[in-house]
Amino acid sequence: MRKLIAGNWKMNELRADGTALARALASQPPDHGRELLICPPATLLAGIAPLLAGSGIALGGQDCHPDPKGAHTGDISAAMLKDAGCDYVILGHSERRQEHHETDELVRRKVEAAWAAGLTPIVCVGETAAERDAGRTLAVIGRQLSGSLPANAGARPLVVAYEPVWAIGTGRTPKPDEIAEVHAFIRAELAKATPDAASVRILYGGSVTAKNAPEILPIAHVDGALVGGASLDAHSFRTIALSAGD
Ligand code: PGA
Repeated sequence: MRKLIAGNWKMNELRADGTALARALASQPPDHGRELLICPPATLLAGIAPLLAGSGIALGGQDCHPDPKGAHTGDISAAMLKDAGCDYVILGHSERRQEHHETDELVRRKVEAAWAAGLTPIVCVGETAAERDAGRTLAVIGRQLSGSLPANAGARPLVVAYEPVWAIGTGRTPKPDEIAEVHAFIRAELAKATPDAASVRILYGGSVTAKNAPEILPIAHVDGALVGGASLDAHSFRTIALSAGD
């Protein structure tokens, strides 16, 4: 399956810089070997969508509300993301689980909302440093997967991102065999729940850079990357994508 290289811009970029970054990415030759995706902040989505036309780069949001509409001040619905030109939405990122107290149950409802709007959810899971040190990594990820994914998950468009909390924005990454262990575990857990597990892309995220991507992306069951900091630089993001192979 084609690898997916996704850029999570988080709460970065005002219109001028965000537009310039999207234009720089869109002006690079189309890359048919991998799928590229950028997830800018919500304010930039509608403006960036036309800039990506014909580039082969997809657009995604960083969160959505579980309800289709209504009195939810400050929130954004999955249909609004779709309307702005998105095909994907990141859900349950550890920064949202921590800063906004998102639970597995809430993430599961958001996944349903994303599907109802025609979006592909990218569901993030990952252990903290304390959980890894306590030898609880797989138990934590198993619990997050079973709690955050609806029962019929594999039959619908779905991406899972393994993002160890301690690797996000820190410059630290797990060893290749640690990444391989978790990705194989996620694949096996998905296979228990659905016959379509092989078609679910499992991304690695957490301090992916142009330098370490060539070591991480060939690991078994690593079907792409969710890139934060390094996705804010067009050259780095492109270099990461090219290291994904065909
Ligand atoms: P990072 O972020 O690449 O800056 O570590 C990844 C993420 O949080 O998705």
